[in-house]
Amino acid sequence: MTAQGALRLAAAEEDRAIRLEHFRRLAELVEARIGIRLPMAKRGMVACRLQRRARELGMESVGAYCAALFEADRLEEEFPHLVNALTTNKTDFFREPVHFEFLEREALPRLLASRGAGRYRPLAAWSAACSTGPEPYTIAMVLEEFGRIKGGGFRYEVYASDIDTDALAEGLRAIYDEQLLLPVPTDMLRRYFMRSRTPNDRRVRVVPELRAAVNFWRMNLLEPDYPWSRPMDIIFCRNVLIYFDRATQQKALEGLLEYLEPGGYLFVGHSETLNGLTLPVRQVAPATYVRL
Ligand SMILES: C[S@@+](CC[C@H](N)C(=O)[O-])C[C@H]1O[C@@H](n2cnc3c(N)ncnc32)[C@H](O)[C@@H]1O
Repeated sequence: MTAQGALRLAAAEEDRAIRLEHFRRLAELVEARIGIRLPMAKRGMVACRLQRRARELGMESVGAYCAALFEADRLEEEFPHLVNALTTNKTDFFREPVHFEFLEREALPRLLASRGAGRYRPLAAWSAACSTGPEPYTIAMVLEEFGRIKGGGFRYEVYASDIDTDALAEGLRAIYDEQLLLPVPTDMLRRYFMRSRTPNDRRVRVVPELRAAVNFWRMNLLEPDYPWSRPMDIIFCRNVLIYFDRATQQKALEGLLEYLEPGGYLFVGHSETLNGLTLPVRQVAPATYVRL
């Protein structure tokens, strides 16, 4: 490489890098406000994601973006976009399928029999940290199917919240690449998804009836300003606690559990554990708890 080429490369790398001082301030801020830990090992990933955001804003580098945040007072206005850029939204339909088998076989029959949930009042299920929607739509499909088997009259509501407004907008749109639907059983595919009329368009959309059953909201798990007045029968809080430290996990779960009926079910991700936390729950299956 020529000396000039090496200089150009070094300059480009500097544009993409995030200064240590800026990274530390960002990490502190993000952890304090939304709980997500950003250890030093994530510095490259953060720089890469913020580079994309900087480009969207027409800025020439991550350095310019951070300067705008910290020196030009644009932090508050930019914070929601910063969060959208830094969250990890990986999700799937029927992710960790044993939870949905448990729901169908154990939780729903018990909730119906013990307190008439679904019969005398709508059964309420909440996907907290719902990302782009596959989790709440999976819950809604399982509830619909349960209602079909029970022979009508079974009512339910699904709530879905996340901090990432881009992810929520995708959830509301409910349009997915058909590749994402591989885990969905064929009969449910037929009942709950519509194909595009455009030839060669590989996307599908959730049918209007199921879309209408899912209510999306922006909510930070660390700010207990839940907009619902009624308690839930079921809460899914999966694959988000891994981004928090123990104290933040405790705080987030304490807040959620205030909204879970005694006898209601809490599902967390299979790589997450509540061991060592002090919470009013009893474990009944892997990554599955009942509120005491
Ligand atoms: C990996 S996704 C998990 C999605 C889904 N629960 C699943 O298991 O497939 C994690 C989600 O948590 C959300 N999240 C992260 N911190 C949050 C917070 N403080 N409050 C609410 N949502 C948060 C992210 O925006 C992201 O969509």
